[in-house]
Amino acid sequence: MKQDMILILDLGSEENPKIAREIRAMGVYTEIHPHDITAGQLAALPGVKGIILNGGPNRVIDGVEIDAGEAVYGSGLPILCADHKGEPALPADDADREAVLRDFVFGQCHAEANWNMDNFIADQIELIRRQVGDKKVLLALSGGVDSSVVAALLIKAIGKQLTCVHVNHGLLRKGEPEQVVQVFRDEMDANLIYVDAVDRFLDKLAGVADPERKRKIIGAEFIRVFEEEARKLEGIDFLAQGTIYPDIIESGTKTVKAVKSHHNVGGLPEDLNFELVEPLKMLFKDEVRACGKALGLPDNMVYRQPFPGPGLGVRCLGAITRDRLEAVRESDAILREEFAKNGLEGKVWQYFTAIPDLKSVGVRDNKRADEWCVIIRAVNTVDAMTATVENVPFDLLQHITARITGEVAGVNRVLFDLTPKPTGTIEWE
Ligand code: XMP
Repeated sequence: MKQDMILILDLGSEENPKIAREIRAMGVYTEIHPHDITAGQLAALPGVKGIILNGGPNRVIDGVEIDAGEAVYGSGLPILCADHKGEPALPADDADREAVLRDFVFGQCHAEANWNMDNFIADQIELIRRQVGDKKVLLALSGGVDSSVVAALLIKAIGKQLTCVHVNHGLLRKGEPEQVVQVFRDEMDANLIYVDAVDRFLDKLAGVADPERKRKIIGAEFIRVFEEEARKLEGIDFLAQGTIYPDIIESGTKTVKAVKSHHNVGGLPEDLNFELVEPLKMLFKDEVRACGKALGLPDNMVYRQPFPGPGLGVRCLGAITRDRLEAVRESDAILREEFAKNGLEGKVWQYFTAIPDLKSVGVRDNKRADEWCVIIRAVNTVDAMTATVENVPFDLLQHITARITGEVAGVNRVLFDLTPKPTGTIEWE
């Protein structure tokens, strides 16, 4: 293995992800595992140089204090240990803590600072090959950052043993399905099954105005389409997923209750009986992007803004109709093009258009005409819990308005949403 690892065992400290990042910032790879890791599991982890057992407020579960077992204490590895009940092993002060961590990682464990993307990729390729052998792997490739990076990594590791399925549900942004085909089939020579499920999704969604019902229909239909494709394929043993570390944290661990159930974790049809391949599950989002970049994926795939799972389905407000769906897709493409041209692409956290189910009177070709309106939203946030509105230059907004009303069929007005979160949410439904 190319890189050393410090193992952090979860004894109920909510600080573990932070500690993991602090050690990675020193150039040493870290992973967080449950406190009750077995000797076999420990032996299977590559390059472990030392173990941190960090206690915390959740260390006592149902009245019993949890602790690591003989597999850990008898491993012979250096251990940095919470010294007594519930107390964390590390000082709270940042500078003190860094000194303790450095002394442990480099002084006691003699770890080498060799954590970088090239070594991570080389190790993951070896691990994937070891796990998969000569068997076949299936991946739902949406074209989002996480599934794209998993695809690129697996193509490198096992080539044609991977089959990617891209479901076009008709709710993707302009150019996205085409880009998935171009990058993965044409450039990376992957086995890619492209499923045109547009009519199927839009038929299921016809007349449905309630946002939560729309979300449920899109999610359930996606699983159904994917499952149908999976059943057509013979001899698949593994399912790859773009699970990343924050997904795992949000889904809960042995010591932390779930924040929310995540679509990447546990949302699978169970009777398909696949074993999972999740090579990114220990990476934070910025590291996933760095991995994608190192694997040669295009910048507009790796650095793309967040996009909700139900896609344009929740931006075509109320019951989705094809004309409004096209209008929101086209206006969104114009907005993205203009933001990129004017240096706002990497600066604004999320920006998009939404189309309400609302017509107003206007003038087109010297005649009165009732047409749709489009709303522009551009916000900045750290964690999506609160958000502020980007101060988009007024002349740029006017230019975008002229382009949208001139180029997008059926749209005669453009509105700019000035509302921070709260009171508005980022999306409109
Ligand atoms: P709100 O609208 O709640 O959005 O302020 C916060 C962030 O979550 C995204 N979002 C979703 N993501 N499925 C997703 O995967 C969804 O149903 C969904 N709804 C909202 C939204 O784009 C923003 O980044």
